[in-house]
Amino acid sequence: MNLSTENVLVFFRIRLLESITIDLIIMIKKVNNIGVLTSGGDAPGMNAAIRAVVRACSFYELKCFGIYKGYEGLIENEIEELNARSVRNIINKGGTFLKSARSRAFRTTEGRAKAHQNLVEAGIDALVVIGGDGSFTGAMKLYEEYNFPVVGIPATIDNDINGTDYTIGYDTALNTVVDAIDKIRDTASSHNRLFLIEVMGRDAGDIALNAGIGAGAEEILIPEQNLGVERLIDSLKRSKKTGKTSSIIVVAEGDKSGKNIFELGEYVEENLKDYEVRVSVLGHIQRGGSPSCYDRVLGSKLGVGAIDALLKGESNVMIGIVNKKIESVSLEVALTKEREMDQELIRVSDITSI
Ligand code: F6P
Repeated sequence: MNLSTENVLVFFRIRLLESITIDLIIMIKKVNNIGVLTSGGDAPGMNAAIRAVVRACSFYELKCFGIYKGYEGLIENEIEELNARSVRNIINKGGTFLKSARSRAFRTTEGRAKAHQNLVEAGIDALVVIGGDGSFTGAMKLYEEYNFPVVGIPATIDNDINGTDYTIGYDTALNTVVDAIDKIRDTASSHNRLFLIEVMGRDAGDIALNAGIGAGAEEILIPEQNLGVERLIDSLKRSKKTGKTSSIIVVAEGDKSGKNIFELGEYVEENLKDYEVRVSVLGHIQRGGSPSCYDRVLGSKLGVGAIDALLKGESNVMIGIVNKKIESVSLEVALTKEREMDQELIRVSDITSI
């Protein structure tokens, strides 16, 4: 099947009134050469998404160009044609084979002009951007300023993107965090200690809440809900009275208690004299490692979904997963910041941690 050379004719029938219908035939410029890049923080499963994009291009006989180092590499013209064999043996690897960056230059109009010029000179007529909110903001700019076709694939361990139930990398990160907390629990219980464990999530508490429940944390502090540090002390005192000898408190890095994790540790030690307190910051181990099966499958589905969307003439959208179905939403919706925290999960955490 060769879909790569023609423009696509799309037929619409619009019913205005009971008796009036209008027929429209619109010609959509067919994409032939697709660029793909990963941008922002790396996330396990990005490689599965790149592989799916490249192989879907091969399947539909489109050309695929890998852009290295995200938007930074686009500005520096680090572009290379990829084929199905270029992406062999990467599905099991963490990180991103195309490398990633948080590009300052792309935030400037000059940087974006250069990036656009390089896309045009390479003959690329659509771009797949694999990343999180910063990456999608960049993609939207390309679309708005140059009408350049873009499709986003959500990939960030934070799971903080609207219009998708899950982002690539989140599942693997959760498992890494639970595994790390399990190990810390051994020391906490052997020494009767209280551990404060900081997990990633600048603006989102998804990792903290879910890994916290999964690892049996006693308290979980998330950016979306600030209940105050006094409540934390009261709760720890109460559980101490009921016989708890050690405790795990999971703190999202973006929590809004007003204290950083070390200050929080000192505060707890001052107010709970009978506990020995330790602080552990998990850091970037949360972003690394071999992707879980879930993230590999999700990356594969969204990668194919992105090419399907471009072939249907969609642009300025993100391909996500909602109730197990591949769906596209506008990048604008994907970037909406108002996300509801799962109140049921918070209730479950409150009940199971007493
Ligand atoms: O966006 C993913 C994330 O891992 C955040 O949770 C974290 O705050 C941030 O990236 C760290 O970014 P960097 O590796 O650039 O310091």
